[in-house]
Amino acid sequence: MALYSDKVMDHFQHPRNVGKLPDADGVGEVGNAKCGDIMRMYIQVDPETQVITDVKFNTFGCGSAIATSSMATEMIKGKPVSEALQLTNRAVVEALDGLPAHKLHCSVLAEEAVRAAIRDYYDRNSIPYGEELRACEGHCDTCGH
Ligand code: FES
Repeated sequence: MALYSDKVMDHFQHPRNVGKLPDADGVGEVGNAKCGDIMRMYIQVDPETQVITDVKFNTFGCGSAIATSSMATEMIKGKPVSEALQLTNRAVVEALDGLPAHKLHCSVLAEEAVRAAIRDYYDRNSIPYGEELRACEGHCDTCGH
């Protein structure tokens, strides 16, 4: 069996939503404690509906980080912020038909970057949020990863 699924290879070779959003409503930057790789995620949010209308990412990370971030952006685009917050790295990995066990930690970057961008959006708009998100400052020890 191939080490990486077709979906992982597809998202690695043709990543979706790569780039920056100059007028982003929220920006999250996180680092992977295991390897030192970094990820920046930008979100645009409709203030009326709280729907994420656009999302982009940049990463200084490995192929698995690129593939999981690409998939994560597809999974949260068009979703309300509250729903995007529920996104787990596990769900992203499942959507990619799996990752090798030793690369699972790479998928954490995507989940944390999404959460950090939403947190920044909440901060900028003085929207209150719970303890769980407050503790998540780019080095999320509370997410169970
Ligand atoms: Fe660093 Fe994959 S090895 S994110």
